[in-house]
Amino acid sequence: MQLSVIGTGYVGLVTGAVFADLGNEVICVDKDENKIALLRQGIMPIYEPGLEEMVRHNVSEGRLSFTTDTEEAVCRSEVVFIAVGTPSLPSGQPDLSQVEEACRHIARALNAPKVIVNKSTVPVGTGDIVRRWIEQYAPGEHPAFEVVSNPEFLREGSAIYDTLHPDRIVIGASNQNAAMKLLELYAPLERPMIITDVNSAEIIKYASNCFLAMKISYINAMARICDLSGADVTLVAKGMGYDKRIGDQFLQAGLGWGGSCFPKDVSAMIATAESLGYDFQLLKAVQQINDEQPLYFVGKMRTALGGLKDRHIAILGLSFKPNTDDLREAKSLQIIAALLAEGAVVCAYDPIAMPKARAIFPQISYCENAYDAATGCDAVAVVTEWNEFRQLNMERLRRVMRQPLLFDGRNIYDPEKVKQAGMQYYGIGRSANSSPFARPSSP
Ligand SMILES: NC(=O)c1ccc[n+]([C@@H]2O[C@H](COP(=O)([O-])OP(=O)(O)OC[C@H]3O[C@@H](n4cnc5c(N)ncnc54)[C@H](O)[C@@H]3O)[C@@H](O)[C@H]2O)c1
Repeated sequence: MQLSVIGTGYVGLVTGAVFADLGNEVICVDKDENKIALLRQGIMPIYEPGLEEMVRHNVSEGRLSFTTDTEEAVCRSEVVFIAVGTPSLPSGQPDLSQVEEACRHIARALNAPKVIVNKSTVPVGTGDIVRRWIEQYAPGEHPAFEVVSNPEFLREGSAIYDTLHPDRIVIGASNQNAAMKLLELYAPLERPMIITDVNSAEIIKYASNCFLAMKISYINAMARICDLSGADVTLVAKGMGYDKRIGDQFLQAGLGWGGSCFPKDVSAMIATAESLGYDFQLLKAVQQINDEQPLYFVGKMRTALGGLKDRHIAILGLSFKPNTDDLREAKSLQIIAALLAEGAVVCAYDPIAMPKARAIFPQISYCENAYDAATGCDAVAVVTEWNEFRQLNMERLRRVMRQPLLFDGRNIYDPEKVKQAGMQYYGIGRSANSSPFARPSSP
């Protein structure tokens, strides 16, 4: 099939690469000339495992190309994906101006019947708005087009895998032929597909992300209770997670959710609900718990160190989660800003995200590795759970530090082992005596 993807970011580039890999001819479009120039040289503008190989392979096979000329790309395609950004406005509503701009170009290039597929995360009702924009910007008579909602659920860091193995493919269409076109396109993946109306598909995306954010905030709130009561949230989560109705995913207490999706999608759902006349108090609480979590972590450091002024703190991990260099709404940003505001001296290490972080925090130092960052520090704080931090040599860490305090913002260590290495351990919701047999239990 001849496809184009407007917006060559995380979603657009991965979608384009995967569809090309499935044998389609794909043109990826972006208005960012620099990004397109890099891609044409085989240089990826983002880090995503397996992406570079897949892009290079499909470019060399002639199935994948890059352009800044949206209209040319749309003219040559029967299916056009919109995968542009939908960032938050100050009101919390998503800014749809990039979608509108894409529609303006699509409208001018309607040379044949086309299916316009919205992959960007957009509030319920946007399908109708997209249709109206295209009608409005099309110069006079034009061939028919259909608007389909096909929300994206990939996770950064495993975007290629997720796109090849999605849990489900949601197709929101008001026309059977358009739905069939998408079914045909996705058929090689052999994954469950659900066909809905456009509005329901748009809501499925927000309902899913908000639910996952709620699960994380729930366990983080539970972690506060564990800290206050002397329990271990990792055991609580394990005990909950075996219940099939609950499941064990997204029950890891930590510093909260960040990234380019959850924060804006939760805000958008709250704002959309409000505009529809519903006060979504549950989600407001989910958001508040999340906003407090990094500050709660900084508070633990402040208390343990007796203040933060002039304390040297090593931050391990900057990206909002492992395997990505994406810093959007990363917890590291909030934590570093809070530490600096209280006069702490910060050095940081991240396997991939340091170049991007330098542009935000030029005043902190960046190190070669975790031990280098910890050298001479009063505390080490693990903020992103990169695999390479999981097996740190605690004794080596202690030897290079000024004070042996470890703040485990992602609960990745066994507190007992850390203590055995002579370090003081501070996790999230893990103030329990870690061995259940450490105290004699009453019969
Ligand atoms: N990143 C994720 O993990 C993820 C997952 C699921 C859904 N989404 C949603 O997918 C959408 C895209 O997200 P992303 O992370 O890929 O965004 P991104 O910011 O990485 O990429 C968007 C790209 O669109 C380009 N662009 C904007 N307007 C354009 C136009 N008119 N013509 C051509 N190019 C244009 C930008 O230059 C940019 O390169 C958002 O709505 C997001 O919420 C993202």
